[in-house]
Amino acid sequence: MKIAIFGVGYVGLTSAACLINDGHEVIGIDVSASKVAMINAGKSPIFEPGLEELLAKGVAENRLSAFQQIDDKLEDVDIAIVCVGTPSAVDGSHNMGYIAEVSRQIAIASTLLPPRERPLTVMYRSTMRPGSLDLLIAPIFHAQHGGKPDNVELVYNPEFLRESTALKDYYAPPKIVVGTADGQPSATVEALYAGIDAPRFTVGFREAEITKFVDNSFHALKVAFANEIGRICLRESVSAKTVHEIFVSDTKLNISPYYLRPGGAFGGSCLPKDVRALTFLSNETGAETFVLDAIIRSNEAHKRFIFEMATDGLEPGARILLNGLAFKANSDDLRESPFVDLARRILSAGYDLRIWDPQLEPSALTGQNLGYSFAHLPEMTSLLLKDQAALAGMNFAAVVDARGDAKALGLETVKIVPINAIP
Ligand SMILES: NC(=O)c1ccc[n+]([C@@H]2O[C@H](COP(=O)([O-])OP(=O)(O)OC[C@H]3O[C@@H](n4cnc5c(N)ncnc54)[C@H](O)[C@@H]3O)[C@@H](O)[C@H]2O)c1
Repeated sequence: MKIAIFGVGYVGLTSAACLINDGHEVIGIDVSASKVAMINAGKSPIFEPGLEELLAKGVAENRLSAFQQIDDKLEDVDIAIVCVGTPSAVDGSHNMGYIAEVSRQIAIASTLLPPRERPLTVMYRSTMRPGSLDLLIAPIFHAQHGGKPDNVELVYNPEFLRESTALKDYYAPPKIVVGTADGQPSATVEALYAGIDAPRFTVGFREAEITKFVDNSFHALKVAFANEIGRICLRESVSAKTVHEIFVSDTKLNISPYYLRPGGAFGGSCLPKDVRALTFLSNETGAETFVLDAIIRSNEAHKRFIFEMATDGLEPGARILLNGLAFKANSDDLRESPFVDLARRILSAGYDLRIWDPQLEPSALTGQNLGYSFAHLPEMTSLLLKDQAALAGMNFAAVVDARGDAKALGLETVKIVPINAIP
């Protein structure tokens, strides 16, 4: 393939080198005259293991050249890959100026293309917020073409390389995520990555665009969390190294997909209590753990969000069925259950609430469980329904589904609000 790369910085250059290695022809386009001159001399403007050798090979074999202007160079190009920077703007958002400018240049050049068998694939690799393709880039192309262009295919493909191992990462990425306008695969992109073995996801633009934000924020969160634990350990004369070894050895609950699905708030007898106690310990020792300190507040904000989701569009007085009250299925533990909190909010807002939780028998509750549930939901006994057969005739306005199995209740005609997994 013939590939044009816009922006030959860390991402653009390392991609160029790997594409040359794969036998493709690459042209690099960059506003920086010095970068263009160095590349044409077979030199790399940045250091990355193995990079300069591949760039020199590309230049020597006439498969790599660099320019400052596009002119008519897109004529026989199969893919234009955009890797320009998206640095922080003063307000913290990404500065999208370079993306807008390079898109305008490509859009203008694409209006001058001779008729072609396949559309020019314009693939964005820069990190940018969800909606950038739909609300910024596509309109730039539409404006130049006087409508949706039929000779251009827009694609978003986030980059997961790490500097210093970028060439290795290109051939062994953690995943390949491709966003397209209709969520269907792009034949050109499939061909480009045919030789790479990695989990693949073809999704809509917005899911692909947010991937990198989510990944990088999670990586940053992990570092901040680990360091906060490290600070507490140090202040408490605990070996942070040993704690780390124990923590990462648990691939069942700690380093695993568990506790990562967007859905219900956390609750129960352990998580809120122990997070509060660790925060107390941290404050006492002066460890200043801002991430840990924010966890309970974040969970409270989520409970409010769930209440708004559950009652969205319902007038006070409407009859709501809450499917599940204990903090999880197959348990009758109500201590700090987020669903007890939700039930209280629904009642306080004036809705006609009923609860379905067949594992729960109020007269069997004892100890703290009994005290907590009646202190927070004194009406519990009268709200709990005991007969599944009677549910069908009760005319609910909505079922708030804390368990994810509300469909099995046989209330097909009722609106089901899933709160155990945000869709
Ligand atoms: N560096 C990484 O490790 C990494 C990893 C994944 C994703 N990303 C993302 O990829 C994007 C690029 O990152 P980078 O580190 O390669 O940036 P970089 O600053 O090294 O390179 C960007 C290049 O774009 C050029 N440029 C700017 N405007 C241009 C225009 N109108 N036409 C042509 N070239 C233009 C600049 O001269 C520069 O050479 C960013 O959005 C970044 O967040 C970076």
